[in-house]
Amino acid sequence: MFDVNEVRKDFPMIQNNKDLIYFDSGATSFKPKCVIDAVMDYYTLYNSNIHRGDYDISVKVSKEYDDTRKTIARFIGADDPRCIVFTSGSTSALNLVAYNFGNSFLKQGDVILTSQVEHASNILPWFKAAEKAKAKIEYVPLNADATFDLKKYEDCFAQGNIKVVVLPHVSNVMGYIYPVKKIAEIAHAHGALVSIDGAQGVPHVKVDVKDLDIDFLSFSSHKMLGPAGAGVLYGKYDLLDRMEPLMYGGDSNARFYNDGTIILKGVPEKFESGTPCIEGVLGMNEAARYLMDLGMENVEEYGRYLTRYFIEKLEKLDNVEIYNPRSEAGIVSFNLKGIFAQDAASYFNKCGVALRSGTHCAKLIHNIINVTESLRATFNVYNTTEEIDRFVEIIRDTTIEKCVDSIL
Ligand code: ALA
Repeated sequence: MFDVNEVRKDFPMIQNNKDLIYFDSGATSFKPKCVIDAVMDYYTLYNSNIHRGDYDISVKVSKEYDDTRKTIARFIGADDPRCIVFTSGSTSALNLVAYNFGNSFLKQGDVILTSQVEHASNILPWFKAAEKAKAKIEYVPLNADATFDLKKYEDCFAQGNIKVVVLPHVSNVMGYIYPVKKIAEIAHAHGALVSIDGAQGVPHVKVDVKDLDIDFLSFSSHKMLGPAGAGVLYGKYDLLDRMEPLMYGGDSNARFYNDGTIILKGVPEKFESGTPCIEGVLGMNEAARYLMDLGMENVEEYGRYLTRYFIEKLEKLDNVEIYNPRSEAGIVSFNLKGIFAQDAASYFNKCGVALRSGTHCAKLIHNIINVTESLRATFNVYNTTEEIDRFVEIIRDTTIEKCVDSIL
């Protein structure tokens, strides 16, 4: 296990904000100095475009950009770096997959099997895909606490026309780690493909796409200690090869002709039109290395430890309702009884604690947990039990009057 006090020294945001307790890493994480340095080095030492310059600094940045595919492939256990497509984040990766299903992989009457815990970015693109292909959206029945029941999931396949399963690795509200390996095994046994939203999973849980045998995995750099503006779509090569880009333009084509013929480059370049977020990709390279140096097993264990620690403390308080007492991956959703979530969050802000409140972009989940707005505390490798202790003391003393006063 790593030493969290040493880890904290790597994060300028922590050094520069001594009084802040940041429990909103699920929205975006802090960045270690090595990531910030990678971005600064690019801007100050070899700022140039990739794949377009026949001079030293452009050759250097092109190599570092392309080498990042190898780092990310290693980070998620993929054999072939060509299967790593750089995107602007999880949302664009998820849209790219859904767009191709809507355009060509699905036909009328096919079923997209998803769940009601999905983040908007992992369901709205599928609504559009369903509309386009005249396919149907169906929801896996989850347990009352939104945990996943493999039997209920397997039963969904009795109808015979599920073509794709769309689920998160980790729910951004519930923090449960879904059994992705079994999910993929069952889907494949019934001829369906599997697209996983890894936005909250990849930063916190060791992922091995070969072992999980998933077809697609989407994730963002900015939640895994890297810069915003970059992300990844991992896909199996043969599937990526059959897919069309969402955008056309520079660098993705080998040739084009007067008559409108476009000869695209291969996978992954055909998906990467236009100048990408170069600094984001270079920073993501450092972020993945940083996480691998900490050891993803350790990251996962530490996230689980902080989550349990916080939940056990909350369970002792009378004024708190917890919605995911079995959370595993650094995400705890709760409310203070009788206090609107956003009022509590505004009060916590005054007390130096930053956390998210509201629907967390997962606007169907209230169908399962019967609450529309909640508070959500999310942890990362730089958070400590001391911070949790301080927050628990604040929660213990929170009253509706204090919350109302704080917003007047
Ligand atoms: N998707 C991010 C979250 O869950 C923004 O907070």
